[in-house]
Parts: sequence; structure tokens; C-alpha cells
Amino acid sequence: MQPGSLLYQGKSKQVFETDDPSLVVVRFTDEATAFNAKKQATIEEKGRLNCAISTMLFERVGEASVRHHLVQPLNDTDWLCLKVEVLPIEVVVRSVVAGSFAKRYGLSEGDVLPRPIVEFFYKSDPLDDPLVGEDAILAMGWAERWELLFMTDTALVVHETLRRIWAEASVQLIDAKYEFGRHDGRIVLADELTPDGARLWDATTGDRMDKDVFRRDLGDLAASYRELYRRLLGSPEG
Ligand code: C5P
Repeated sequence: MQPGSLLYQGKSKQVFETDDPSLVVVRFTDEATAFNAKKQATIEEKGRLNCAISTMLFERVGEASVRHHLVQPLNDTDWLCLKVEVLPIEVVVRSVVAGSFAKRYGLSEGDVLPRPIVEFFYKSDPLDDPLVGEDAILAMGWAERWELLFMTDTALVVHETLRRIWAEASVQLIDAKYEFGRHDGRIVLADELTPDGARLWDATTGDRMDKDVFRRDLGDLAASYRELYRRLLGSPEG
């Protein structure tokens, strides 16, 4: 399936039309952005590493009966996906205090939460994706009630599945962002499952291995992603 014209240019992803109106090609690119694209860089191999990591993780959550948009990987950077209408809501699941949760409530990064916490953020670049409450989402029609419930339950299943997979690789899953889309009247897990949208700390040292390395200038992002790849899938050389 060859990509057709560009439908959408994301911060680290491109989406192309295909001959089939129900399918798109999603391409993982080498771009890294942070703080709503106020900080940008090109990180060699990031697209390939993220595509491989995300492929493995989508296949594993699929085995856990989660419906998702990946139809099949096409090559090192491209996926054939269901075309979805992405909901304007980011679902964040947190197992450990970090990031905006630590800041908002004055908590210490690294404290384990009593149970996973689900938060919704409204996807809006001009507003920097603000936290949003359930009632506002329903009142504004950004999602229906059953969709919110379904996304919450699914995000918790995905998060627990990923937490276990990463733990086997000696990596602690701290928090992650999940996105969903509508396809044929159903809600499917969309977007990607990569270290761009999750916090992943080395289980032994606590070293940051995810996009915080780039956001907070903590070191070499490509080296971190290569190490995550190696732990999940073996040597990056294959
Ligand atoms: O910044 P915050 O603590 O709210 O982020 C929670 C999680 O969601 C982190 O894993 C972060 O990488 C992810 N996230 C994201 N895209 C955003 C906001 C947060 O992937 N726009």
C-alpha cells in the first residue's frame, strides 16, 4: 500500500491517504518537540526506533483484547492504520507522581500513587492542552459518556499491560498519554505507544529514559531510545 497525499502533519508523525478511504499510512518521523513545539530537534533514527517500539507494544495490547488502529507495519517507519476520527481528548494514566501532576499538587516526583489515576486533557495547541473535567467534555460534546467510560477502562488496561512489559525490561512506567479515535462507530486506541508519550525510568537507577531527556536536557535522547529498544526487542541492528 503506497502512501498518497499528506492528510496531516503532526509534530513527530505524518498521516497519508491511501487508495482505500478507510485506511491511512502513519509515518514516524525523526522530529522531537517539547513544550508544544517551542523546543524542536531532529533526532536521527527516532522514527525507526519509535515505530519498532510502538509496533511491539500495539501487538501486545492487541493480544490483551484492546482494539486499536494498527492494521500492519509496512516498513521501518510506516504503518497501515484504520482511518479514525481522533477525539480531542488525551487520556493520561499515572502510576507514579511526576510532571504536571507533581507541579499542580506540590508533590514529589517518584512517589508511588495509591492506585493508577486517570486524567483528561483537552487537545489544543493554542491552549497548551489544558486539564479538562468530565462534565466540560460532555457539555461541549467532545466525547460521549460511554466513550469517556470506555476510554478510561481501556486506558487502564493498556497502562497495566505496558507497565508489565516495561517492568520485564527493567523499566518503570511512570505515566503515559493515550489517544483514541472513532472508527465505524467504535472507539479504538490510536496514535502511538512510544517513549515520546510516556515517562520511563530505569528500574534500578531511576534514570530518565523517555522524552524528558530531551525536554529537560538530561542527555542523549537517541541513546536512551536505543537502550529502550534494546531492552524490549534486542539489538537495534536487528
Ligand atoms: O506533563 P504531564 O505530567 O501532564 O504528562 C503526563 C504524561 O503524558 C507524560 O508521560 C507525557 O509524556 C505525556 N504527554 C504527552 N503529550 C502531551 C502531554 C503529556 O505525551 N501533550
